Amino acid sequence: MATLNTDELLAIRDEEVLQPDRRLIDFKYFNTRPWIVENIKRALRLGLHECRGRSILDIGTGFGYFPYICEFMEHDAAALDIPDHRLYDRVIDALKINRTQHTVNPFEPLPIPQQPYDYVTAYQLAFNQPGKETVWGSSEWAFFIEDVLNNQLSSGGRIHLELNWSFRIGAWYDADTKRLFDRYDARRAGNEIDIYKR
Ligand SMILES: C[S@@+](CC[C@H](N)C(=O)[O-])C[C@H]1O[C@@H](n2cnc3c(N)ncnc32)[C@H](O)[C@@H]1O
Repeated sequence: MATLNTDELLAIRDEEVLQPDRRLIDFKYFNTRPWIVENIKRALRLGLHECRGRSILDIGTGFGYFPYICEFMEHDAAALDIPDHRLYDRVIDALKINRTQHTVNPFEPLPIPQQPYDYVTAYQLAFNQPGKETVWGSSEWAFFIEDVLNNQLSSGGRIHLELNWSFRIGAWYDADTKRLFDRYDARRAGNEIDIYKR
């Protein structure tokens, strides 16, 4: 918390977020302390306090608090999120996060990294398209996992997903996708999925 310029973040909030939207956005992101705590917990769950210098890609990073914590813990964190979101863009700049603007689309590979990552993470994300009825099924997930295993991760690297609930299917993911994760020997616990590159 001491390294964060919360005055700068609140100034961005005052300039970018209209009054009626503030309660939600304050709760979701500008309520800094709980989000920093939550992201420290995420880093601890990955064991990032027990090592240094790991490379991490965080997909759908939002304000970038997770890569911020990773960098604080002396790791090398990169991030991806959709392009041209003014509020995210300003906060990402303020936090000096190394983030690429990129929308993850079904059956499209991620940008090729210069060096493979030790971890590819995604938190509170399902790749469902906001306002649309589309939900990723097992084919979309299969393409994504193969792409991450083959093109993004170093040997021994790890995919760690903490998915958003899908109201459409009434679960974190559907039964076919569960079987797909199992084929990769995924560790599944609620919305958390871990797959290792052997
Ligand atoms: C609920 S927010 C979670 C933000 C952050 N991971 C966290 O846990 O605080 C979902 C994020 O995923 C991003 N996102 C949604 N669909 C995406 C896609 N297809 N490609 C890239 N980012 C996406 C959104 O822009 C947003 O930043």
